[in-house]
Amino acid sequence: MLQRILLITILILTVLSCTKTTRHVDLKSPSIIPAPQSLQVNDGYFTFHENTSFRFDPEFPMAGKFLLDHFDKMGFDELNDYDDKEDNYIYLKFNEEIDSTEGYRMKIDPERILIHARTDAGAFYAVQSLIQLFPILNDKDEIHLPALTIEDEPRFKYRGMHLDVSRHMFPVAFIKKYIDAMAMLKMNNFHWHLTDDQGWRIEIKQYSKLQEVAAYRDSTLLGHYNDTPHKYNTTRYGGYYTQDEVREVIAFAKARHINIIPEIELPGHAQAAIAAYPELGCANKDVNVATEWGVFDNIYCPNPETFEFLENVLDEVAALFPSPYIHIGGDEAPKTQWKQSVIAQRFIKENGLKDEYELQSYFIKHFEKYLASKGKKIIGWDEILEGGLAKDATVMSWRGMQGAIDAAKKGNDVIMTPTSHCYFDYYQSDDENEPLAIGGFLPLEKVYGFNPIPDELSGEEITHVLGVQGNVWTEYMPTTDQVEYMAFPRMLALSEVAWSPVEKRDYNLFVNNLEVMLPRLDAMDIKYANHLYVIEGNLNEDQEYELSTKTLGKEIRYTTDGTEPNTNSTIYESPIPFKENMIVKAQVFDNAQPLGRLFSQEFLYHKGVGATITINHPPHKSYSGSGANGLINGIVGSDTRYGDKEWLGFWGDDLEIEIAFDEPTEVNEIQLRFYHAPGQWIYSPKSYDLHLETKMGRISDRVFIPKGNENLITYKYNSERFKGYEDMMFYKLELIIPNYGTIPDGAQGAGNKAWTFIDEIIIK
Ligand code: ACM
Repeated sequence: MLQRILLITILILTVLSCTKTTRHVDLKSPSIIPAPQSLQVNDGYFTFHENTSFRFDPEFPMAGKFLLDHFDKMGFDELNDYDDKEDNYIYLKFNEEIDSTEGYRMKIDPERILIHARTDAGAFYAVQSLIQLFPILNDKDEIHLPALTIEDEPRFKYRGMHLDVSRHMFPVAFIKKYIDAMAMLKMNNFHWHLTDDQGWRIEIKQYSKLQEVAAYRDSTLLGHYNDTPHKYNTTRYGGYYTQDEVREVIAFAKARHINIIPEIELPGHAQAAIAAYPELGCANKDVNVATEWGVFDNIYCPNPETFEFLENVLDEVAALFPSPYIHIGGDEAPKTQWKQSVIAQRFIKENGLKDEYELQSYFIKHFEKYLASKGKKIIGWDEILEGGLAKDATVMSWRGMQGAIDAAKKGNDVIMTPTSHCYFDYYQSDDENEPLAIGGFLPLEKVYGFNPIPDELSGEEITHVLGVQGNVWTEYMPTTDQVEYMAFPRMLALSEVAWSPVEKRDYNLFVNNLEVMLPRLDAMDIKYANHLYVIEGNLNEDQEYELSTKTLGKEIRYTTDGTEPNTNSTIYESPIPFKENMIVKAQVFDNAQPLGRLFSQEFLYHKGVGATITINHPPHKSYSGSGANGLINGIVGSDTRYGDKEWLGFWGDDLEIEIAFDEPTEVNEIQLRFYHAPGQWIYSPKSYDLHLETKMGRISDRVFIPKGNENLITYKYNSERFKGYEDMMFYKLELIIPNYGTIPDGAQGAGNKAWTFIDEIIIK
């Protein structure tokens, strides 16, 4: 009996395998971003063609329609309804047993594609995964999809992208395109930054001057804010979204399971509104809509006119947006005018407030209560913690993670958007030819490596981390192309942080999936940045330089003599020893085809290389570069990107750095490099102390750093003090570098601790 069963089984298998081998089918290996919780490839494939039938349960109107529309676009516009008889079908099936409200299960078999979900959102995300399994453009009558099983659900319930439309404004069609891309990546919250100093962008029916005055500025800063003297484009700039347009965008987003959170900034970033209605301000003077970037002193005054205005504005906003949340800003609200204003001071006294910080908190709590009466909750930037946090506010932590940690410990919900990992207005490559950006350095891999759950949180506190958000501030993005260049592909990396389980996060795999995804972005006409074929360099512990690239099946060729590599250059197979000054130039090749940009790294074999270094504080987690050794590794950091692997960032710490030479060393010159970018709260120290140890004792000196407005302060020390010590051998160098201190009033980040950024200490 057993033998007969075996024989029949073998016969069936033979027949099956014969039918399969009669035609050759190319199956793409499945590649989905964000990576699903689990994906298992099975034997066989499903064939999609014009006779495939399709059905979705009534619980899934949006998911079903979205997939139907997609089939239409692919040229399959007359699929049959599946009626339980056909043997080649796609079915979105309601299943109450799926646990997760946004999760789904998908099984692709040779006969059918069966999707189970409990909600339209879950089915919609299954549809997004399925679409990524289909070819981008269909030019065939039949499409083959590999048999597989996917079980999927999101890691975080808040998966957001922000867009600033005040600094620059973008057409409704673009907002929809941005939302479409978010939907593809299973993101579910669009944070629309609608008001700021440089323009008010939402129609408010009760206040016509918001449309006539606050929506336009007379000129716009040209070039970078740090370039002085400032130059301007004097063309009037602006516009606003009508309430009808807003409704249209909301409906478009809703059909993609995206909630839109409007941001109406208060009490700071209010200059455009005050320009239209000067009585809302505290300074008793006319102001214009801001024409350059930064933080301005103009702030709403706590007078009856302001509260009435903001309540009326929020009435219209709350009625327009179905979002359970309204964002009320709260960031960067300078207290200067309140300190000087009789009205503000009287308000502080009459309401028993301690100071201007409690006044800021009063504003936030007032509007939290007001919006609660309309069934809305508030979100605010982490400054809303200052002066006391509103009870039910959700905190968006942008100045690092501390705001989120403090808020979650108090029991408030938090959303993680730290500048270090989530600010897509930062540079993404250290290539000097990158288009102008605000500063910073946030390459794709750093976004991908973001851990939104800080070690400081545990148990119940962790449940308050709702999720993550990427922020796109548009001071330096005047066009939609530029927004796309900055947002993509970093948005894809963040989508995996937001959606995929930690154990599924694998940067190498992501990059290879991204390579598959790029033609899909091309088809969507998204002008993404392509740094896919970058070469990474790493100096290992044996003082050898390692090169790598993330995409598979490519080779790296390199030179060390400064010439450009070509197809005859050495193929990189093992690390390159670093024993003298050299320049490594390298290029990725796919067969003979060069890909991506030329990689170039200069090495300076100075006297500090190979010495032993200690620093009294570890660098800040977000800016830890290559650790202390990175300061004497022979590699100088970027002159324009303080977030690269060479710069170390310290927030408020006074530093003591000790460099011990392996053997007595003659020292003629010491060069220190500090980053100086007050706009990003980074200040070079005012002075530092230097001690050199010899057998005969120490020589010490205090070095004053001249004030500059350069990005980079390079300071060479070869003082007179070395005179007479020419023959002296040194054992140890000690550097005492005090932090700049508190950022002064009037500067960006006033009142916060300054950052110190230091890179290579070059010893000659
Ligand atoms: C912010 O970047 N000012 C929230």
